[in-house]
Amino acid sequence: MKIILIGFMGAGKTSVASKLSGLLGLPAIETDDLILEKYPEESIYEVFKKYGESDFRRMEIEVAEDLKNKDDCIISTGGGAVMERTVMDCLKADSGKVFFLRASFTEISKRLRDDYLRPLFKDKKSASELFDLRQPLYENYADVTIETDAKTIGIIADEICNYLK
Ligand code: S3P
Repeated sequence: MKIILIGFMGAGKTSVASKLSGLLGLPAIETDDLILEKYPEESIYEVFKKYGESDFRRMEIEVAEDLKNKDDCIISTGGGAVMERTVMDCLKADSGKVFFLRASFTEISKRLRDDYLRPLFKDKKSASELFDLRQPLYENYADVTIETDAKTIGIIADEICNYLK
């Protein structure tokens, strides 16, 4: 079983992946972490600073390709995974189930209020435009959409588990 979590920054992908990992006994893999293993920097923020966004997207494709034959895991993606079809195709291959963790922009802004390390969430107006641009992409790749506003990580993880039965 392969579970892929997609959604905007602050949607809770990392926390939900870690909760699911405990519930299902499967390893949680974070594509951002794999990028940092290949391109050692202190953070994704530093990767953006050093290489820029288009190189970062190339790195996302690389790690997605590395994960192509991986099964029995939970993959937590970066919010921009849906920007490149190759990334999603590789992550999904062959039988991955994609869960879109949907949160409203208001909720996401609250969650990321004190987070200065997200390179694409420094200015609220452009973050909001990016949010609008990406919503149809998340919807398009999702096998299942989970609403996350006002829900705990535990409840979200339980909902996902129910879909797996
Ligand atoms: C990005 C989201 C980040 C990280 C990078 C780019 C994006 O991951 O991959 O900063 O384009 O939305 P999170 O969604 O985990 O914050």
